[in-house]
Order: sequence, then structure tokens, then C-alpha cells
Amino acid sequence: MKILVLNGPNLNLLGKREPEIYGNQSFQDYFSQLKLNFSNIDLEYYQSNIEGELINKIHEIGFSYDAIIFNAGAYTHTSVALGDAIKGIDTPVIEVHISNVHSREDFRHTSYIAPYCKGTIAGFGLKSYDLAIQSFI
Ligand code: DQA
Repeated sequence: MKILVLNGPNLNLLGKREPEIYGNQSFQDYFSQLKLNFSNIDLEYYQSNIEGELINKIHEIGFSYDAIIFNAGAYTHTSVALGDAIKGIDTPVIEVHISNVHSREDFRHTSYIAPYCKGTIAGFGLKSYDLAIQSFI
């Protein structure tokens, strides 16, 4: 099984960025752990701060991989184009958020990608990614 973990803007700063919300661990450290926990799955990681690069990646792997675990960061709340990209591919996408977006500012309650995703997992810290992968096995 081949799964892409895809992170959007500012998630390269995990560990340094607003640690009271997003925690102290870098994504690189967490991802190494994740690969050990799911050693039977072919897990890949891609991060970009650029909307078009995220769309290109979704197009590139969206007809061949088994799943995409996607934290679109703030683009979740703004990007019609990312929603359209997910709508246009075959690979199922799970929307993930580290924080509970529904307990935060109103603008974070809207997701332009959720209608085209298989489901959403939010609010469990980095464990949200573990839970999303588990949903496929
Ligand atoms: C986030 C929530 C978004 O609202 C925010 O813009 C992020 C991170 C999360 O993982 O909790 O960048 O997607």
C-alpha cells in the first residue's frame, strides 16, 4: 500500500511554530516515527508552501497511490483549486488537522476540501496522521 502524507503552508515550521497549538515536535522527527509504526506501508512525505505545487503533486500521484493524508493548512479555508484537484483524482484523500479547527476562529470552520475527502480527522495533535493512516488498514 502506497500512501502520501501531504502538508501545506507553514507546516514545515512544526516544532517552532505556535507550540502551544501545534506542539514541540518537528514533522521530520514525527514522520520517522510514523514510518516505523507503519513499516508495512510505503509512506512518502511532501510539503510545500505553494498552492500550485500542492495541486501538481495531487495530480502526479492521484491516479496511482492508494491514499493521500492531507493537511492543507490555511489553504483548507481558502482554496477552491485544491478542492477541485481532489475532486478530479481517483485516490481517496483524508483531511487532517493537528488542532481542533472547530474550536478556533470562525474562518477555520470552513473547509473547501472536506466535501471531496473521504473523511476528516482534527484535533488529536500529530496523532491525527496516525489515525488517518489506520483508517486505511
Ligand atoms: C491546521 C489548521 C489550520 O487552520 C491552520 O491554518 C494550519 C494548521 C492544523 O493542522 O491544525 O496551518 O491545518
